Amino acid sequence: MKTFYIETFGCQMNAHDSEKVSGALVNQGYSEVERPEDADLVLYNTCSIRDKAEQKVFSRLQQFKRGNGNGKVFGVLGCVAQQEGERVFERAPHVSLVCGSASYSKLPEMLVRLEAGDRRVTGLNLDTDETFETPFTRRDNPHRAYITIIEGCDKACAYCVVPFTRGPERSRTSASVMAEAARLAESGYTEIQLLGQNVNSYRDPSPAGWDFATLLARVGEVPGIRRVRFTTSHPRDFVKEIVDAIDANERLCNHVHLPAQSGSNAVLERMQRLYSRDDYMRCLEWVKNARRKIAITTDIIVGFPGETEADFNATLDLLDWAQYESLFSFKYSPRPNTPALRLDNPIPEEEKGRRLGILQEKQRAIQLRLNSNLIGTLQEVLVERYNTATGQWVGHTPENRTLNFTSSNGHSLVGSYVRVRVTRAGPNSLVGESVAHPGAFQET
Ligand code: 5AD
Ligand code: SF4
Repeated sequence: MKTFYIETFGCQMNAHDSEKVSGALVNQGYSEVERPEDADLVLYNTCSIRDKAEQKVFSRLQQFKRGNGNGKVFGVLGCVAQQEGERVFERAPHVSLVCGSASYSKLPEMLVRLEAGDRRVTGLNLDTDETFETPFTRRDNPHRAYITIIEGCDKACAYCVVPFTRGPERSRTSASVMAEAARLAESGYTEIQLLGQNVNSYRDPSPAGWDFATLLARVGEVPGIRRVRFTTSHPRDFVKEIVDAIDANERLCNHVHLPAQSGSNAVLERMQRLYSRDDYMRCLEWVKNARRKIAITTDIIVGFPGETEADFNATLDLLDWAQYESLFSFKYSPRPNTPALRLDNPIPEEEKGRRLGILQEKQRAIQLRLNSNLIGTLQEVLVERYNTATGQWVGHTPENRTLNFTSSNGHSLVGSYVRVRVTRAGPNSLVGESVAHPGAFQET
């Protein structure tokens, strides 16, 4: 029996790609093992969004230098594979397979060539109009499923490596997305997350011609689906119809992740983000003025070349105004091929670190305040696991807040929807107790 091990770095798109790759391998007669030591085929599905992420795969590969690889076959998949191409073989000579995500539909035949004794195979074609769809996807979570609706990215944000690693935008047909959602609902999934580098620019390639808001609304109508999420959005393509769809159907989660990157017009322009601070704030106003209360989260980059103290303060000011439920913040990291490499006035690392610290401190206070306001409220939680160390169940609310709670109910709650009263709040999570009195207690 042939065995494989796969480790995944990076975003949800990568996590889901690994589920598809694993399914395709199992279909070819491989079985998955938990440790690289036990595998004939060791795969790393890589991320190159920041330099640190890229370094991780090479340090993993160092652990298996030629000689102690014991006849294993090593493969590098994903964004580092696409970015570095054949250079991966120079940097790690024991690697035999290098394949970017735009070429995964060729993986089965590449594996056959490796089994036949080919020393090195590559899949690096970016110039594709194919999407990677497979009936064999092996999902890691039995309750929450990812569905890719669009691959690649046609934007050209000056800092971002993704257009070079994932290729041009390709949308799936609405019929195939709807069929997959229905199949998932039938097999017991209740939460769906629609995935793409920029889901807002989804455009159904079939004559139906649905836009993203239409697709989102329709997925929310699939019988059996209780929660629909989507990630990630680009403010340039974000339209009010998305908020209207969320307002119209409770099964669409009241959460929008809308990366701002910066609150300064000058920086946004150098980032080639294609929107101004006012444009961005208009999008958030649609969200804030919705009938339902919709949680907003974002991504921020500090220390982009030329970012002045005034620019940085404009970002802090945006945080005050937006009141994000949470945010991901990063120090700018120069990436190969990207337009930002040509910009002057790099910000020193220590200064980036200082700004990141200030930003995170401000956001922490905002989150603590927002979460404290929830003490005493009832929240619906989809339970993901039991934490034996704390004796608490762990799950997420529709707004994607993490809630840890206790329950007097003896049986397993994993996969069920539980109503929880919030009793305590921290900056990053909530604590509560399941509500167990008649009428209010609702587990399904
Ligand atoms: N340096 C730092 N952060 C980056 N991101 C993307 N590219 C870079 C980079 N070169 C961040 C953005 C994006 C998130 C996924 O990663 O904030 O939204
Ligand atoms: Fe990393 Fe971006 Fe690739 Fe996702 S698309 S794996 S975040 S580089």
